[in-house]
Amino acid sequence: MDTKKERFEFQEDVERIVSPERTTFDTYLLRPKFLDEYIGQENIKERLRLAIKAAKMRGEQLDHILLAGPPGLGKTTLAGVIANEMNANIHITSGPVLEKQGDLAAILTNLERGDVLFIDEIHRMNRNVEEILYSAMEDFQIDIMIGKGPAARSIRVELQPFTLIGATTRSGLLTSPLRNRFGMILEMSFYTEEELKLIIQRAADVLGTAIEERAAQLIAKRSRGTPRIAIRLLKRVRDLSTIKHQRIIDEATVEEVMSLLGIDEYGLDEMDRRLLRIIVEVYNGGPVGLKALAASLGVTEDTISEVYEPFLVQSGFIARTARGRVATEKTYKYFGIQRGFGGLFDGVLDR
Ligand SMILES: Nc1ncnc2c1ncn2[C@@H]1O[C@H](COP(=O)(O)OP(=O)(O)O)[C@@H](O)[C@H]1O
Ligand SMILES: [Mg+2]
Repeated sequence: MDTKKERFEFQEDVERIVSPERTTFDTYLLRPKFLDEYIGQENIKERLRLAIKAAKMRGEQLDHILLAGPPGLGKTTLAGVIANEMNANIHITSGPVLEKQGDLAAILTNLERGDVLFIDEIHRMNRNVEEILYSAMEDFQIDIMIGKGPAARSIRVELQPFTLIGATTRSGLLTSPLRNRFGMILEMSFYTEEELKLIIQRAADVLGTAIEERAAQLIAKRSRGTPRIAIRLLKRVRDLSTIKHQRIIDEATVEEVMSLLGIDEYGLDEMDRRLLRIIVEVYNGGPVGLKALAASLGVTEDTISEVYEPFLVQSGFIARTARGRVATEKTYKYFGIQRGFGGLFDGVLDR
């Protein structure tokens, strides 16, 4: 088993083009500004339209909103869209940046009436910083400690009514006192190929590049349901197309780039294949715990559960069970491997 594990050692810092995590590739221009330009997530848009309209009619700020979903699905973009639709200023920060209560207090006391405060990765906020958010969200006031030791006292500061928009990869990562204070919890879903095709066509437009419909379709199919990946792939395809002096991006160019990047027809890259192979070959198809999987791959447990796994689960390559992750029939077929013990996990699958 040791020798097998060695073969799958993670090579540090392989650039991962299909990573949904944020990089400098993201262009400000590519972000839609209003709900009508925001493609997909129809259900969420519907709920937001209603809430925004009602808030405007009452002349009030919107209820606090939690946006939950894997990286690259458009949470930050949507926060900006909501602020635009409300005609509000948006202040942007993130959970890990707020180290002390004072950091958050300084931001909160500077908010003006109706402003939007966007806290990215809100689940990674310090517990004791999180605590001042409770009264801020509920009563628009905070208690801050002044001084140290016996002379310390707490003073109450009134805040302007504001809307907090929090983003997190999974709503379940939030403590319940925090989660309960959001008026709306919006769970984002992966995009359909049709929606991704539209996003790619729109992005190509903004970038001033022509692309054949079938070529856009091909990129969409390999984008793991994620706009950020779709746009990043488009940019790499555009690079090759430029070098080839093409007037319009065609399917052949897309295929060429995909094979260069090692991305297959399902949108899986080398890293995904390595992860699946470990489950199949090292752990006999599973179940394997997150910890063991992370150790074998050389990445953190969070990276697996928040970055790689959601898409692999959604597309049916991995199933989560009470005892760990298992490879599905689809994965065995994908590798062309016969399953060792037929039906061993029948009935234990969560979904
Ligand atoms: N619904 C959408 N329509 C068009 N483009 C989108 C949409 N959602 C995301 N994008 C694009 O995808 C990229 C990633 O979106 P972002 O909001 O940063 O994702 P998240 O904050 O969820 O990680 C952005 O460049 C944005 O332009
Ligand atoms: Mg974001």
